[in-house]
Amino acid sequence: AKKKFKQAEVNIGMVGHVDHGKTTLTKALTGIWTDTHSEELRRGITIKIGFADAEIRKCPSCGRYSTSPKCPYCGAETEFERRVSFIDAPGHEALMTTMLAGASLMDGAILVIAANEPCPRPQTREHLMALQIIGNKNIIIAQNKIELVTKEQAIENYRQIKEFVKDTVAENAPIIPISALHGANIDVLIKAIEDFIPTPKRDPNKPPKMLVLRSFDVNKPGTPPEKLVGGVIGGSIVQGKLRVGDEIEIRPGVPYEEHGRIKYEPITTEIVSLQAGGRFVEEAYPGGLVGVGTKLDPFLTKGDLMAGNVVGKPGKLPPVWEELRLEVHLLERVVGTEEELKVEPIKRKEILLLNVGTARTMGLVTGLSKDEIELKLQIPICAEPRERVAISRQVGSRWRLIGYGFIRE
Ligand code: GTP
Ligand code: MG
Ligand code: MG
Repeated sequence: AKKKFKQAEVNIGMVGHVDHGKTTLTKALTGIWTDTHSEELRRGITIKIGFADAEIRKCPSCGRYSTSPKCPYCGAETEFERRVSFIDAPGHEALMTTMLAGASLMDGAILVIAANEPCPRPQTREHLMALQIIGNKNIIIAQNKIELVTKEQAIENYRQIKEFVKDTVAENAPIIPISALHGANIDVLIKAIEDFIPTPKRDPNKPPKMLVLRSFDVNKPGTPPEKLVGGVIGGSIVQGKLRVGDEIEIRPGVPYEEHGRIKYEPITTEIVSLQAGGRFVEEAYPGGLVGVGTKLDPFLTKGDLMAGNVVGKPGKLPPVWEELRLEVHLLERVVGTEEELKVEPIKRKEILLLNVGTARTMGLVTGLSKDEIELKLQIPICAEPRERVAISRQVGSRWRLIGYGFIRE
C-alpha cells in the first residue's frame, strides 16, 4: 500500500555568512540544490529563499540517522521519524532583509560557519543577531568545510566560535564539525536536529495565518483566457490550517491609487488548490512551503507582488498599520559590517527599513521619544499589536540590522 504523504512539520533555517555552505548542506540533507534561478547560478550565490524537505529517518539496526529509506551506514531499512523543511537563506550582505523574511518562518536554525575562515565573519554575526531578535532559541552550529583545515586549526576555530556565542542565544548550541561537500558527519548533525529543534506545539483550532513569501502567475504566455489559472501565492502557515474551498482574506492586499497616493485594499478569494512540499493536498498545516491556488487575477500575483502579505479567514486577521509606534531597542554596534561601528541614535525624518514577518517596508521617522519612535510607512503592514519588528538602517551602501522594536497600540 502507498503510504499517506505527510507534510513537513517544522521549518529549519540555514543561516550564516556568504559561501559558508548553506546551500551545499541543504543538498547534503535533502538531495535538492535550492539555487535554481538564473542569477543564482550565474553568480554562485543564493538570492531567493529556498525550501527543500526531507524525511528524517533512524536506523533500527545501527542507530544512526539519515534521510534515506536505506541506511547509508549499514544498509538496513530505516524508520520514519518526521518530515522537516529546510529554509535556505542567502548569506550575501546585500540580501539581509531577504534573510530576515525567511527567518520569520524558522522554528529553529542551523548556523553554518566555515572552519577555514576566522570566526565571526560579519553575516555570521548579523544572522545570529537576527535569530536572537526574532526570538529563535533552537540553534545548532555546523562547523563546515572541516576537511579543509588541520586538527589544530579546527580546534582554534571551535574556540573562536565558543567565544563568539558566549552570552548570546546560541551560547549552549551544539557545535557539530561537518563537511557538507563530502557528506561527512551528517548523521550527527541530524541527531542534533532531532535533539535540539523540536516540532513546536501547534493549536490547529486557532484561526489560520500564512505569511506570504512568493507569488506567481503560473500561466504560460499566450494561454487563452478560458484556460487561465488564478494567481498562486506561496508561503508558510504559522498558525491553524487551510483547506481547499476556504474563503480567505489577504492583507494588506492590493495597491490602488487615490488622489495621487498609493493605498492598499484587502482582498478576499477562495482556495481552489493547495500544495504542500510540492504535492497537492486537501489541507495544509504549519511546516514547509505551502502553495495556495486562488481565483485571483494572476496579474495581481505575478513576480512575487503578493510577498509580505498575510493570509487568513476573512475578518480574523491582525490589523493593518499605515503608521507605527514602536518601543525601540537599539544594538550597541552595527554587527553586519567588517568593523563594528557604533549605532547612532535614531533621528527624526530618517528612513528606516522594517521587517515584520515576511513583510518589509520603509518607515519615515515622524516622532521620537526616549524609547519610542513613530513612523509613517511606505507600504502598510498586517501585524499583531506587540509583534516584533526588525529595524535596519542604511550604513554606507547597505541596509544593516541596528535593532528591533515592538508594535505599540
Ligand atoms: P550563499 O547562499 O551565497 O550565502 O552561499 P552558501 O552558504 O549557500 O554556500 P554554498 O553552499 O553555495 O557553497 C559555497 C562554496 O563552498 C561552494 O563552492 C561549495 O562547493 C563550497 N563548500 C560548501 N561546503 C563545503 C565543504 O564542506 N567543503 C568544501 N571544501 N567546500 C564546501
Ligand atoms: Mg546558498
Ligand atoms: Mg554560494
